[in-house]
Amino acid sequence: MARRRIIAGNWKMNKTPSEAVALCAELKDLVKNDAVDVVYCVPAIDIVPVAEAVKGTNVHVGAENFYIEDKGAFTGEISAPMLKEAGVEFVIIGHSERRDIFGENDILINAKVKKAFASGLTPILCCGESLALRKAGTYKEWIKRQIEWDLTDVTADQVKTLVIAYEPIWAIGTGETATADQAEEVCAMIRETIAEMYDAATAEAVRIQYGGSMNAGNAAELLSKPNIDGGLIGGASLKPDFGQIVNA
Ligand code: 13P
Repeated sequence: MARRRIIAGNWKMNKTPSEAVALCAELKDLVKNDAVDVVYCVPAIDIVPVAEAVKGTNVHVGAENFYIEDKGAFTGEISAPMLKEAGVEFVIIGHSERRDIFGENDILINAKVKKAFASGLTPILCCGESLALRKAGTYKEWIKRQIEWDLTDVTADQVKTLVIAYEPIWAIGTGETATADQAEEVCAMIRETIAEMYDAATAEAVRIQYGGSMNAGNAAELLSKPNIDGGLIGGASLKPDFGQIVNA
């Protein structure tokens, strides 16, 4: 069975609530495509107005982060039930910015993946290597280990609905994209890892995105690769270019 393409924007820490609503209006007609899952992962404060703005369209709402407890004394955090009630379906987990700037480790990331599934949210689990690991040639081992850690005690049925984003850190926000062959090499390796951990049917079902300076000019080539099922897009998701990526 062919996997359905999934193009997700990661707005990061951009757009005030009113700017977010304006961007939804700007992109509305450009992102129409019934053959693709389109997701806007937005800052927490934008979730409610964005959910309202995209109602009745083909756009799904995602969060950029959450915490593993349902409620309580966790100042500054936001819970899965809060996201669910606001209409969120997807949540980014383990982005390299969360790992590197906010110190999230694979134990927490694994707990977040399990909590997301238990709460009815679909994780977009990010993995990827630094430039140093790419240069050292050990990037595949590193990413394999991230996947194994982050999916500890996650079931095959859950992984069948999971989205994994391969985002080489050296390609994020740098304008330097992995070549389509470099991206395909790692995405294929991730799928093999899922086959080893689970089974062929699970590996066939899991959707794998590429992320890192994906734009209107390079999306079609990246998305033509057999193991690249979509994209996780930062900078270009804030512009009309996002519509071209959805329709690439
Ligand atoms: P850029 O598309 O801006 O490189 O960001 C990629 C990214 O980090 C998406 O999560």
